[in-house]
Amino acid sequence: MVRIVKRIAWIAGCLLLTVAVVWGMEARECADCHTDTSIIEEGGCYLYIDPVQYSRTAHSEVGCPACHKSVTDDHPDDGTRPPLPSRTICGDCHEDVAKEYRASAHAANADCVDCHNPHRVRPVAAVSGFEMNRVCTKCHDPKEVSRTHGVWLPQAELHIEALPCITCHTGSKNYVITFYILKVEKHGGAMTKVKVAALEDLKGIVSGKLGTLVDADGNGTISLAELRAFNASYRKKGLELWGMMTPEHVSHSLETLDNRWDCTFCHASGPSAMQTSFLAFPEGQGSYRRVPIERGAVLDAIYGTPDFYMIGVTRNRTLTIIGLIIAAAGLTVPIGHGSLRLLTMKNRKRRK
Ligand code: HEC
Ligand code: HEC
Ligand code: HEC
Ligand code: HEC
Ligand code: HEC
Ligand code: HEC
Ligand code: HEC
Repeated sequence: MVRIVKRIAWIAGCLLLTVAVVWGMEARECADCHTDTSIIEEGGCYLYIDPVQYSRTAHSEVGCPACHKSVTDDHPDDGTRPPLPSRTICGDCHEDVAKEYRASAHAANADCVDCHNPHRVRPVAAVSGFEMNRVCTKCHDPKEVSRTHGVWLPQAELHIEALPCITCHTGSKNYVITFYILKVEKHGGAMTKVKVAALEDLKGIVSGKLGTLVDADGNGTISLAELRAFNASYRKKGLELWGMMTPEHVSHSLETLDNRWDCTFCHASGPSAMQTSFLAFPEGQGSYRRVPIERGAVLDAIYGTPDFYMIGVTRNRTLTIIGLIIAAAGLTVPIGHGSLRLLTMKNRKRRK
């Protein structure tokens, strides 16, 4: 009797194993062809999925067939193009986000896949603020956005480079300052080219281990002293830090919030705000790894982050005074653009 039970258990085990192997193979097989560059010649580059990028997504764990249910066993020899997953498929697993987004007026303008490539999704902290904005500027011409916003927002271009659109256009929460490393190239005279440093750019400039760039002692936190040391040595080599005010928690209720007209929502909220900051290191393939910066270091405009001035927040006398003016006037309308430019001339950042 015991032997028969054992035998049945053994057969059942074999069957399960076979199912598991076949199942696993199915997922692996999709990748075999679709992550091989030869598929580009075969059918076009849209068929190619970057394996490194894909393997970093949480979606690689759910597997291709979870979303591509209609791909047949005979694919691609069945002579038919498998239909793409429905545009509402995301809601199957992201119910809350889908519900929130569907309730916003913007749901009529764009679907999830217009803003997210399902084969490249990453946690918010690994996405740069610049990329968050590229998502929007695919459809909203950045020049037009600067023009319309410039009517009431001084230095609209600077603001948009220092704020993801979603900071003002969603009720996202828990803002922090995230610094990205910029590479500044001088081509003689006034010609300067500024871009976000990629991993490859840093490899060319930094001697020694990349992990200890800025975080010199490699303890996983950046101190004010380390920020100063970075500025002292790397600014000469063309590396600068660019701060953006990014949300930790992203809401999908796209809207125009009334209090974002109010300059004091961000400025003049006093040095207690925005003390949490991170430095985002490029990891390649457009992904970032964040390292926390000592609390409050960002507010030290002179030594800590010379290229970041949050008027009213940063510890800098002139700028604090402007912040107080903004606060006192409760300004929701631009103050004389010219005078602001003048006052902040010395401090203003180079444009990208
Ligand atoms: C033997 C290689 C191979 C394997 C394995 C394979 N594919 Fe494909 N796939 C192709 C080729 C080639 C095409 C283009 C065929 C065409 O356009 O008729 C294609 C097309 C597609 C398309 C259609 C894109 C479009 O709109 O034209 C999807 C979706 C797709 N594959 C998903 C999958 C999934 C999911 C799996 C795994 C279950 C898979 N493929 C396994 C080679 C493969
Ligand atoms: C989380 C769901 C999800 C997973 C997992 C997923 N896909 Fe997709 N895939 C989609 C959606 C949705 C589209 C359609 C995008 C659109 O409509 O623009 C798509 C489109 C495609 C296309 C057509 C080209 C394109 O980008 O539009 C191919 C080929 C493809 N997927 C293959 C794969 C393969 C191979 C895997 C596994 C390695 C995979 N997908 C994993 C959701 C997924
Ligand atoms: C089969 C289930 C499934 C489907 C369908 C699916 N996702 Fe996901 N997705 C996940 C899981 C699991 C995660 C991991 C994090 C989590 O639980 O939110 C994830 C993570 C994400 C993330 C990154 C967040 C993070 O923290 O890593 C984004 C963005 C995302 N999905 C967008 C989409 C979009 C857009 C679609 C539709 C094309 C989609 N998902 C369809 C299961 C799914
Ligand atoms: C108008 C553009 C837009 C649309 C449409 C959109 N998203 Fe997003 N979503 C973003 C941006 C920007 C972020 C933040 C950075 C990132 O992950 O790309 C984000 C973040 C996310 C995250 C991570 C959230 C977190 O806090 O961890 C998930 C999950 C997600 N989106 C799923 C979806 C799903 C599902 C849909 C469709 C119901 C959708 N998104 C529609 C722009 C959009
Ligand atoms: C697929 C294209 C597309 C993408 C991507 C997109 N939008 Fe839109 N958006 C539209 C269209 C179309 C309209 C309606 C016409 C208009 O106002 O320009 C619109 C309207 C808006 C409006 C005005 C709504 C109102 O109250 O009248 C805001 C604000 C907006 N989008 C913000 C964003 C933000 C922020 C992002 C990125 C997270 C984004 N959009 C991404 C297509 C898009
Ligand atoms: C500092 C906050 C802020 C930022 C950053 C911001 N917006 Fe706006 N945006 C607003 C406010 C406030 C309005 C309402 C202005 C009005 O009605 O004239 C608005 C209006 C809009 C409108 C609709 C009306 C118009 O003027 O065209 C669109 C579309 C829009 N924004 C898109 C964007 C996009 C895309 C980005 C990022 C590239 C962005 N916004 C960044 C605050 C902001
Ligand atoms: C959603 C947050 C937010 C809102 C709302 C906002 N700002 Fe800003 N502002 C910023 C950020 C972030 C910076 C850039 C700091 C940096 O990168 O140096 C900035 C920079 C500035 C600067 C330039 C400082 C310099 O470096 O020269 C001025 C001037 C300014 N803001 C005035 C205003 C006024 C006036 C309003 C209201 C009409 C306003 N801001 C609304 C966040 C905001």
